[in-house]
Amino acid sequence: MASGLSAELLQHELRTSLFGRAARVLQETDSTIDLAREWVREGGPEGGVVIAARQRKGRGRLGRQWLSPMGGLWMSVIARPPLQIAAAGRLGVGMAVAGAEGAREATDAAVGLKWPNDLVIGEKKVGGVLVETEVVGDRIAAAVLSLGLNVNIPSAAFGGGVRDTAISLLAATGREHSIAAVAARILERLEALWPSMMESGTELRQRWGKLDALCGHELEVAVGDQMVQCLAMGIGLGGELALVVNGEARLVTAGEVRSVRRRLR
Ligand code: BTN
Repeated sequence: MASGLSAELLQHELRTSLFGRAARVLQETDSTIDLAREWVREGGPEGGVVIAARQRKGRGRLGRQWLSPMGGLWMSVIARPPLQIAAAGRLGVGMAVAGAEGAREATDAAVGLKWPNDLVIGEKKVGGVLVETEVVGDRIAAAVLSLGLNVNIPSAAFGGGVRDTAISLLAATGREHSIAAVAARILERLEALWPSMMESGTELRQRWGKLDALCGHELEVAVGDQMVQCLAMGIGLGGELALVVNGEARLVTAGEVRSVRRRLR
């Protein structure tokens, strides 16, 4: 099937020198994160990728379940970034930027970004990023950068819990896409972005800004046990949400956007 997935198809599509060159592609697993973490322990290489056609126990942010049926791209990438833990936010931002840019290149869908690491089309979520790190002292010894992307999932396959908030590239564009090609475009973007991700957040912030679905809009953000009404201003160099609250600029490192009131730009 042209829209399917195999290690051969991925290698055929890839134009990288490192990311995705070592790849474990499976039909089914509990979670690609677990396999990637195991591979890290066995000494798996930087840029090594685990992709599954379907996950039985996909995990999302904040301990949520991640629906992972056939037709999606469920992918985890191994990295050994020479970064201090304080810079970990850049990994998620980089993966999200690579995900959105790669998906746009492969499918022409209007994929945008919503802080902290969501890929969106309009107001609906098409994908998400989850980063797990292994830390030694104040440094990141290894990281697993994961992306879930609803590529060829028909709208009817979204369960009641996410039916109104989730979308797929298929639903947005009206056609199926090659999952191997989407994965390859994302890995190419990630490889190209990697040196600047390791240096600073400047290029990331600029690239995020071009796809930012929140910037300039009024938000309600849950920060700890507080609900903050604010104006979104983009992201900070460490992947924080940049806000203006009561006329004062703030950077928020952890929180959840609960509502967006669109302003005419
Ligand atoms: C989110 O909550 O937005 C992040 C979702 C991350 C899902 C991906 S799919 C591949 C990898 N394996 C998992 O179990 N989760 C991540």
